[in-house]
Amino acid sequence: MAASNVHLELSHVSKRFGDALAVDDVSFAIPRGAFATLLGPSGCGKTTTLRMIAGFYDPDAGEINLGGRRINDLPAHRRGTAMVFQDYALFPHMTVRDNVAYGLRLAKRSRTDIAKKVADTLAFVGLAGMEDRSPSQLSGGQQQRVAVARALAIEPQVLLLDEPLSNLDAKLREQLRVELRTLQQRLGMTFVYVTHDQAEALSLSDWIAVMREGRVEQAGTPWDIYYRPRTAFLADFVGAVNLVPAVIRAAQDGQARVAVGTRELSIPVPREVALSAGQEVRLCIRPETVEFARDRGGPALVEGSVLRRAFLGDRMRYWVSVDGREWIVDQADPGAGPALDGRVSLSLRPERVHLIV
Ligand SMILES: Nc1ncnc2c1ncn2[C@@H]1O[C@H](COP(=O)(O)OP(=O)(O)OP(=O)(O)O)[C@@H](O)[C@H]1O
Ligand SMILES: [Mg+2]
Repeated sequence: MAASNVHLELSHVSKRFGDALAVDDVSFAIPRGAFATLLGPSGCGKTTTLRMIAGFYDPDAGEINLGGRRINDLPAHRRGTAMVFQDYALFPHMTVRDNVAYGLRLAKRSRTDIAKKVADTLAFVGLAGMEDRSPSQLSGGQQQRVAVARALAIEPQVLLLDEPLSNLDAKLREQLRVELRTLQQRLGMTFVYVTHDQAEALSLSDWIAVMREGRVEQAGTPWDIYYRPRTAFLADFVGAVNLVPAVIRAAQDGQARVAVGTRELSIPVPREVALSAGQEVRLCIRPETVEFARDRGGPALVEGSVLRRAFLGDRMRYWVSVDGREWIVDQADPGAGPALDGRVSLSLRPERVHLIV
């Protein structure tokens, strides 16, 4: 990444609460105009990281740079950041108009400026005509939009969003996800979004940092995180996965021969990954990359028996016993044929198998 393209950068940032290290030596660089997401389980330090960027917590160590400028010592309202909170934190006794105008009044903008900015921003988020309502007269989705409008009105360089959709039902969440992404792209603004929902992170983001116990476990594109996870935790956290123990037999020229139970498979591996014979690894195999095969035998075929299945609408999920281990296999378009049962053959595509060393 070219240095000039970096918009927000954290270097060795830590934060302690008493004995607990909530954020532990976190470093990352987010490109300008990216939809960036901090993803991780509850308690991993996402909100604490976001609050340090916003200026609500002081880091114990490390630097925070925005647009090439160190912002550690700037007060929250002078950082060029704005935050949308999980519970929206709207002022209940104020109208929609006054909620959105709040930051502009604090910044002592003129009345005509404020009126225009509020009208423009509300129109932008699709709330024109609701200026005089109070938050209690709005649906959850509308309140969420007011919170976004209030944050956008002050024209931040970076919008920080802490699980803004988690209070909404599944259908609305999906709709607002699309809206947020569209909004971010129209504005060309850098967003830092916090969620513990992997599907949300994968579908929204240009860049994801997966956090665990205060640290960044891996950062990269959704594609990298999903298909090339560096650790078993990560592979499992971002989606259903089969993590199958295997032993390296030989590796050279971008190919590895691995023993899986009584079988051997030859799979492509990046040349920079150092592997040696006898090394224990795990195969990371996503359920949707495995197919049920008609024929039995062949190098990339695995025999098993169906333990149970679940109809998920767009796919059938099977749990298949292979060498005493449960594999998850997803079959697309289950309506196209009868459900499977009993003994089955699974066909692996070696190029879709990722090694975790
Ligand atoms: N103000 C605080 N005082 C003491 N401990 C805190 C405080 N804020 C957070 N922590 C602790 O720091 C850790 C990280 O908390 P944080 O809120 O950043 O997690 P999170 O990833 O946002 O989790 P969630 O998904 O549940 O919101 C947790 O162990 C939490 O208990
Ligand atoms: Mg949180």
